[in-house]
Amino acid sequence: MARMVEINLNGRPRLDAVSDNVLLLDYLREIVGLTGTKSGCDGGECGACTVLVDDQPTLSCLTLVSTAHGKRIETIESLGHDGQLSAVQRGFHEKLGSQCGYCTPGFVMASVGLLRKNPNPTDAEILEGLGGNICRCTGYVKIIEAVKYAASLRRQGILP
Ligand code: FES
Ligand code: FES
Repeated sequence: MARMVEINLNGRPRLDAVSDNVLLLDYLREIVGLTGTKSGCDGGECGACTVLVDDQPTLSCLTLVSTAHGKRIETIESLGHDGQLSAVQRGFHEKLGSQCGYCTPGFVMASVGLLRKNPNPTDAEILEGLGGNICRCTGYVKIIEAVKYAASLRRQGILP
């Protein structure tokens, strides 16, 4: 059965008729055409599909669009404006937190969610906050550096 789903996606209101069984990941990629959110395991294990739902990092491969009705969804496409990277994007870029890049949108969105809740996380808090995300390339040290650098850029008001 299809139902009307009203969401705010990356700051813009949307109203779509969506079947009850459509996953948020498929809605974003196939219906809206935002392919920045990646599909990795499709089973809640890798975090590649992480988006923010009302500021909370959320696995879009396990979320039905119908449950997002009335909520605010943010994807990787919401970050960076006028050719300028956001703090977390710049952190991953400058501190080499991304190699093949497949996991990066998920890590970036999980990091944005973490820094909104905790603007000055310790290494342990970063590891815990990103515990649902898997990277096969970086070994995580660079990712922790990237998030700490992003946190400092945000705290200094250099980048959002
Ligand atoms: S694709 Fe969603 S957790 Fe892996
Ligand atoms: S950068 Fe390749 S999987 Fe993370």
